[in-house]
Amino acid sequence: MRTHTLSAAPETVTHKKLAAWVEQMAILCQPDQVYWCDGSQAEYDRLCEEMVGGGTFIKLNQEKRPGCFLARSHPSDVARVEDRTFICSARQEDAGPMNNWMDPGKMKALLEPKFAGCMRGRTMYVIPFSMGPIGSSISQIGVQLTDSPYVVVNMRIMTRMGDAVLKALGKNGSFVECLHTVGMPLEPGQPDVAWPCSPDPKDKYIVHFPEERAIWSYGSGYGGNALLGKKCLALRIASCMARDDGWLAEHMLISGIKSPEGEKTYVAAAFPSACGKTNFAMLVPPKHFLDEGWEVTTVGDDIAWLKPGKDGHLYAINPEAGFFGVAPGTNVKTNPNAMASITKNTIFTNVALTDDGDVWWEGKDGEPPQHAIDWQGHDWTPGCGRKAAHPNSRFTAPLSQCPSVDPAYNDASGVPISAFIFGGRRSSTVPLVFQAFNWSFGVYAAATMGSEMTAAAFGQVGQVRRDPFAMLPFCGYHMGDYFSHWLRMGRKLPQLPPIFCVNWFRRDANDNFLWPGFGENMRILKWIIDRANGKATASEGPLGWMPSYDDFDWRGLEFSEDQFNDAMHTSREEWVAEIASHDELFFKLFDRLPHEFPAIRDLLLASLWRDGGDP
Ligand code: OXD
Ligand code: MN
Repeated sequence: MRTHTLSAAPETVTHKKLAAWVEQMAILCQPDQVYWCDGSQAEYDRLCEEMVGGGTFIKLNQEKRPGCFLARSHPSDVARVEDRTFICSARQEDAGPMNNWMDPGKMKALLEPKFAGCMRGRTMYVIPFSMGPIGSSISQIGVQLTDSPYVVVNMRIMTRMGDAVLKALGKNGSFVECLHTVGMPLEPGQPDVAWPCSPDPKDKYIVHFPEERAIWSYGSGYGGNALLGKKCLALRIASCMARDDGWLAEHMLISGIKSPEGEKTYVAAAFPSACGKTNFAMLVPPKHFLDEGWEVTTVGDDIAWLKPGKDGHLYAINPEAGFFGVAPGTNVKTNPNAMASITKNTIFTNVALTDDGDVWWEGKDGEPPQHAIDWQGHDWTPGCGRKAAHPNSRFTAPLSQCPSVDPAYNDASGVPISAFIFGGRRSSTVPLVFQAFNWSFGVYAAATMGSEMTAAAFGQVGQVRRDPFAMLPFCGYHMGDYFSHWLRMGRKLPQLPPIFCVNWFRRDANDNFLWPGFGENMRILKWIIDRANGKATASEGPLGWMPSYDDFDWRGLEFSEDQFNDAMHTSREEWVAEIASHDELFFKLFDRLPHEFPAIRDLLLASLWRDGGDP
């Protein structure tokens, strides 16, 4: 094990600024030792075994799930903590009204005493990681310091990490400083617990310093709070980089669609949390599409970084190397590719443990087990009235294990994006699919996207939460400026991908879904890529370009023209109310709202009185 005294970095570390920062942070956090991660399999295996020994990991049945482990978090530490997430820009107005803000100096003054000695009795792990393929001009390097071995092994799946990154960083490459602690130092002789964290919900801080490009995270060991490459770097900090340098850092999946003729089209799609984004990223088309030779492949399921290429097209990479997916509801029908991805080398967190050493969650295939150990370590039986798995329980699995992984997922140059897709969860109002009239209308539609709350998300169930671009919890600066950035990109880019809106979740008067969703979404996706490739027709409707029933391939699905019309219907009454409610968002952002938006709102309103809306 490459353990060092507080001040020494391994000889391979030639980056003086990095070595000095690690030393300074070690002096602040006072770990027992500093360990530089090399990213090797042997290191990963050793840390996993150590966590089995310490009670953080349970080794699953190695015949059923080779290389798989289960972790159970502290019950107070089960999800991202949006109310404890801060954007500490120098000026409050740059963070905008959607973010918590504190003056960066005041935040550091508050946090420094908390970080002082926070790693006593623990090891400080140094994790050099690359978001995106190492060496890609679209990628960014970060270095996370953490006292959590759970974080180290998860980061090894979710990012490219270790010696190769240090090498790429060289003597003076730039990197994002990511400081993380679980916030539970150990006094001499104090035994550790399986999931150390700061149990007080108010004593967690997920803090971003956008001008410094630095992240400080205190008190949580879970997911996006602790795996700092993901939401903190790849979205909040990267969105600021993208604004400054003319690119896009987005909460989007990337998938590829190959036609039987071999034509490959990539799309990037944004859906708020809890809208089936991972399922869409790994979509399995209906049988006759497969028989004809259609293929859908996965580049990423959560985050896309897009940069303009020399040819004027946008090229996207997935900055991540793994999936951190929600387990409940995942099964062979909803997502066979995810189920295949998690058969081995996967870390499960907060799912249930079956008596034969396998995992279970609500909505997994087959009958519930007669007995299991729930996510809190208690006996569980089907009638006990409690959930066996936490609704936000997760799997961490390598992208390379996904059967639908795209051959170009690791390409440094990224994949060319031909269409953007935006979709929320709306039981009424929003049609199944339409194409925005142009870039500006598309930006407006994405900006005003809303989603109804589910039990797993925030707010009151059923209420619409506006989630612009699905970036509400993830934009590292003022949302009004973010809209302007998108509009500016549209003015600069010679090759603009068309923008589409979808809604898989519309319901009829009896509360039944109007659209079957899942693999059937391929039919909608095919129309989208045909439009993007200039091969499908559409007619002008009140919201944008609308397909008609005959534009789709309905083979193998009973879906009548009446059903289609219901799913596509644009109600003037509903849309007047919808557009009026956009103002709530606009008033919040008013001093930085792009001046195009009120104009587009009025044009949309006027369109509701044209043919295509209600009489
Ligand atoms: C996620 C989220 O976990 O968007 O990806 O909440
Ligand atoms: Mn996400």
